[in-house]
Amino acid sequence: MKNILVGVTGGIAAFKSASIVSLLKKKGYNVKVVMTENATNIIGPLTLETLSKNRVYVDMWDKNPHYEVEHISLSDWADIVLIAPATYNIIGKVANGIADDMLSTILSAVSLRKPVFFALAMNVNMYENPILNENINKLKTYGYRFIDTNEGLLACNYEAKGRMKEPEEIVDIIVRHDIASKIDNFRDALKGKRLLITSGRTREDIDPIRYLSNKSSGKMGYSLAQAAVDLGAEVTLVSGPTNLNVPDGLKEFISVDSAIHMYEKVDEKFKDTDIFIACAAVADYRPKEYQDKKIKKSDLNLTIELVRNPDILFEMGKKKENQLLVGFAAETNNIIENALKKLEKKRLDMIVANNASTMGTDTNSIEIIRKDRSSTVINQKSKTELAYDILKEVILDLKKAKDEEK
Ligand code: C5P
Repeated sequence: MKNILVGVTGGIAAFKSASIVSLLKKKGYNVKVVMTENATNIIGPLTLETLSKNRVYVDMWDKNPHYEVEHISLSDWADIVLIAPATYNIIGKVANGIADDMLSTILSAVSLRKPVFFALAMNVNMYENPILNENINKLKTYGYRFIDTNEGLLACNYEAKGRMKEPEEIVDIIVRHDIASKIDNFRDALKGKRLLITSGRTREDIDPIRYLSNKSSGKMGYSLAQAAVDLGAEVTLVSGPTNLNVPDGLKEFISVDSAIHMYEKVDEKFKDTDIFIACAAVADYRPKEYQDKKIKKSDLNLTIELVRNPDILFEMGKKKENQLLVGFAAETNNIIENALKKLEKKRLDMIVANNASTMGTDTNSIEIIRKDRSSTVINQKSKTELAYDILKEVILDLKKAKDEEK
């Protein structure tokens, strides 16, 4: 497992570094922490030492029990460096080549080939200071990465930009980077490709307060959208109702409710699409008539007549020109047999078969079946990891198509 060096600087958000270290450990990473002197006023080194299960480094001139030059051995040891929180000060120092304490000295010695992330956290006036912007732009040209702040209540009582992203969001970015970096040339792997993704459930209204729907959470579709953005694609996400955060960096996010609404939006976008991934669990039926007043109960049974919804993917299969089509098959039985039927009927290039019982969960086992009926089974992985596995197949397919053109 990879080695992550976490640098903690003296912003109030330093207290959140305990959660970051703990989450990274839970994911199985080796973690070592370096703190600035100021950070130790906000959170005690002992906390981070206990959570990381490693000694915490603060002072360059500590008695060194291993007789190593520690700022060098730590910068060599790290596979990934995360500075969280990253204050105005540390960014200014790194951007201007200042190395006057343990953390800034380590940063000066980290190879530029290694990923270094700064999770910004500061008062809004500091955040808006053009000097910060200049420093960030300079550092970006050397490959340093920045995790931008959220808007929210700041320690200075302002409700504004400057609040460090939550530990879960920061750790998610690191994990995604780690998975993506296993793909060749990952930052540009889908560059210039226009992806259209449907995700989540649809909602078929019966009356003003009742509807038909299903258990899909949208997690797989959102993970695919985020992974595709991370791989350089232009992504349009058409999503049914969900509680998830909208992925960062989308070209367009379109929120829909019913299957017909989803169909209209997909149909509008399909011609300007290179890759269409239909991940949504679209309702096959909707009530024949919508009752605009609440249906009153009586002593009799109630029958609601349902009519067929359009099959979005099937319709796009008919319109397909050069688009690559990826479908999903969530089944409770005869999974592969049913998936193969859909692959053919909907003119797909690939179908991802899985057990419908995993709807709404964080992990899944899938089988990716290609047009030539060859397949790959992937067991029990997080939906984030599966998203990259699926996109890796898409990238291979695109490459094959390009090679055949030659
Ligand atoms: O036929 P079935 O609904 O099981 O096929 C599943 C695949 O078709 C999924 O990729 C799903 O997103 C897509 N689909 C669709 N429109 C529907 C039903 C399913 O795009 N009305």
